[in-house]
Amino acid sequence: MAPSEATVLARSTPAEQAPEHLVLEAKGLTQHYQISRGLFKDNATVKALNGVSFDLQAGRTLAVVGESGCGKSTLARALTLIEQPTAGSLVIGGQDVANADAARRKELRREVQMVFQNPYASLNPRRKIGDQLAEPLQINTSLSRSERREKVQAMMQQVGLRPEHYQRYPHMFSGGQRQRIAVARAMMLQPKVLVADEPTSALDVSIQAQVLNLFMDLQQQYRTAYVFISHNLSVVRHIADEVMVMYLGCIVEKTSRDLLFERPLHPYTQMLLSATPSLHPDPSKPRIRIQGELPNPLDPPPGCVFHRRCPYATEKCKTEVPALRNVEARQVACHYAENFL
Ligand SMILES: Nc1ncnc2c1ncn2[C@@H]1O[C@H](COP(=O)(O)OP(=O)(O)O)[C@@H](O)[C@H]1O
Ligand code: SF4
Ligand SMILES: [Mg+2]
Repeated sequence: MAPSEATVLARSTPAEQAPEHLVLEAKGLTQHYQISRGLFKDNATVKALNGVSFDLQAGRTLAVVGESGCGKSTLARALTLIEQPTAGSLVIGGQDVANADAARRKELRREVQMVFQNPYASLNPRRKIGDQLAEPLQINTSLSRSERREKVQAMMQQVGLRPEHYQRYPHMFSGGQRQRIAVARAMMLQPKVLVADEPTSALDVSIQAQVLNLFMDLQQQYRTAYVFISHNLSVVRHIADEVMVMYLGCIVEKTSRDLLFERPLHPYTQMLLSATPSLHPDPSKPRIRIQGELPNPLDPPPGCVFHRRCPYATEKCKTEVPALRNVEARQVACHYAENFL
């Protein structure tokens, strides 16, 4: 039996894994893009990601939230080894990606799969669904054709597709079904981590809940860890164990789902939450209006990255960068976090 196949089969008993099993460690991930500003201007640096660190355990979901342009997709590309970060390190299943040789790197790439907002991005319009789902098995295992077919059909059933869908092409499915197919494809090799970048944002609201439930069912069965990127806080509240709030490429707050929604400490998190319509608004919590725009990442503000939009900013905030620090079971980057406890 080929080692790759052994790995795949061995992992089909996920319940054996310890609950605290660490599957992903990101340390200081940084991504700076050099861009050309035109013929007579110097090149500029877009600081898309600035020193992002976190750990992720098997079977857990870390949601990443923040406005468009704050670096969420850049983080997703770094975690899935699509792009090499400018700095920082990534440890997948205890193995540092930077120290891995080419063969090991290929194996590690398999361990972190991605689901995109638009499932068309990952599906080939000219190949039958069954063949596309079988492809990862064909490349990475020595399973026979009929064994591959069996596994594909089992996975199709699990994600709510019918056996006759095997022979169909992507355009013959609805948006929700296509996203189910993309999820099935990402799960075929039972990765340790699934990074989902706004996976339900393009779907009708009525379909979103079904696809979210699918994610949750699969996680229960396989104990896959999720990095779930979303700007929709109702979705995050439904699916996350922990939430990481990003602003201009930095983590500004990270804590458990319950603490974050109960009492957000960072003024940016407070702003995001108060901008989200609630079915049961709490009259004791004032609504803070979402104001201003995300600063240009080519020219980030000095001091606290949020100071130009923060209703509580002081002179100190304009010059001193607040460190990301522990404040009562959270990590938060605000000089005055204690004031919001
Ligand atoms: N390949 C790239 N080259 C230059 N700038 C980029 C590139 N990819 C992303 N950016 C910039 O990095 C910042 C973060 O982008 P992105 O990660 O896509 O944010 P999000 O997914 O949160 O909307 C944005 O300012 C974006 O314009
Ligand atoms: S450090 Fe200052 S500007 Fe930044 S979030 Fe806290 S109060 Fe606002
Ligand atoms: Mg994005």
